[in-house]
Amino acid sequence: MKVGGRHFQTIWLKPEDESVVQLIDQRFLPHRFVIEEIRTVQQMVEAIREMHVRGAGLIGASAGYGMYLAAIEAARDAAAREFDKHLARAAVQLNATRPTAVNLSWATDRQLKSIAKGETAKEKVALALRTANLIAEGDKEHCRMIGQHGLKLVQDIVHKKTGKTVNVLTHCNAGWLAFVDYGSATAPIYAAHESGLPVHVWVAETRPRNQGSKLTAWELGEHGVPHTVIADSAAGHLMQRGEVDLVIVGTDRTTYTGDVANKIGTYLKALAAKANNVPFYVALPSTSIDWEMRDGLKEIPIEQRGAEEIRRVDGWSDGRPVEVCIAPEKSPAANYGFDVTPRQLITGLITERGICEANETSIRALFPEHAS
Ligand code: MRU
Repeated sequence: MKVGGRHFQTIWLKPEDESVVQLIDQRFLPHRFVIEEIRTVQQMVEAIREMHVRGAGLIGASAGYGMYLAAIEAARDAAAREFDKHLARAAVQLNATRPTAVNLSWATDRQLKSIAKGETAKEKVALALRTANLIAEGDKEHCRMIGQHGLKLVQDIVHKKTGKTVNVLTHCNAGWLAFVDYGSATAPIYAAHESGLPVHVWVAETRPRNQGSKLTAWELGEHGVPHTVIADSAAGHLMQRGEVDLVIVGTDRTTYTGDVANKIGTYLKALAAKANNVPFYVALPSTSIDWEMRDGLKEIPIEQRGAEEIRRVDGWSDGRPVEVCIAPEKSPAANYGFDVTPRQLITGLITERGICEANETSIRALFPEHAS
């Protein structure tokens, strides 16, 4: 998608040196556009853990490239027989960075299976490179297709509203910054905007890290999509007053039965949507479906992050980064990163293969290769 009119992805290989991964370091957005160079698997582990990159799809793509960097290291430093052990260790380290997004272990598993097919170190590195690129390209294509399927929902609402602006509410950042390109929740919005449909987005700020106000608002602004940032707690009020036509959010892990884990606060929005008859959709590539998990509430691991993210807020003032305390320094704080929205609250899932209901039968009908 575009930054200052130029096309960017969130992650790519350095054109003049394919052993270096370049990525947009999201910690500095929206104030500064910083590109980081990653040369080792350890640096990639840190980039994911410290959220230089974040969002389910991008975490998966980053893990794919992390495994490629691990393969380069193994070919250079490890004895040939140690190669696969080095890669297995790298996968464990990468998987431990963020517990909720299933794309992470999906990508490292895919890499391990692919790399195991190589006989020599050179072949293994070539396979790791190919697979990392395939993961990234697949992610892009999935999101593009989600945009095409979700566009129909927006078209229908425009039709019903006889051409008046469609108000979409989203939470966190499930935009192109959370994937390699396009985004999941934002893909239908970008597709609608590009088709000339009148669309406006309510962007929930998403405390504590503010991915909504910092990232979603920034990327929509770069594309000229009309939007308004709101406090998380304003969503119910807007729905009650008929100011929201459609909610679209992303997910970090969805069970094969349709329970959805997403950024903390998603569940409250789903409850408000249900109470006010507002359609609530979750946009996701199939790489975010966990085909092993049945009960989202009981089984999906919920990341807990440091209390400082609750007690403090960072931002930008007079051209420099600042951090301020917004709670008594000594008050205990709990920082739950995600919540689970039960399938009963979800109108539908927008996937790369089409839209389905959030239940096992409907999901498996779209993805019959995963039939039990
Ligand atoms: O903690 P984050 O910023 O990685 O959380 C991201 C989200 O919760 C997104 O909404 C989610 O990844 C779905 S879109 C990929």
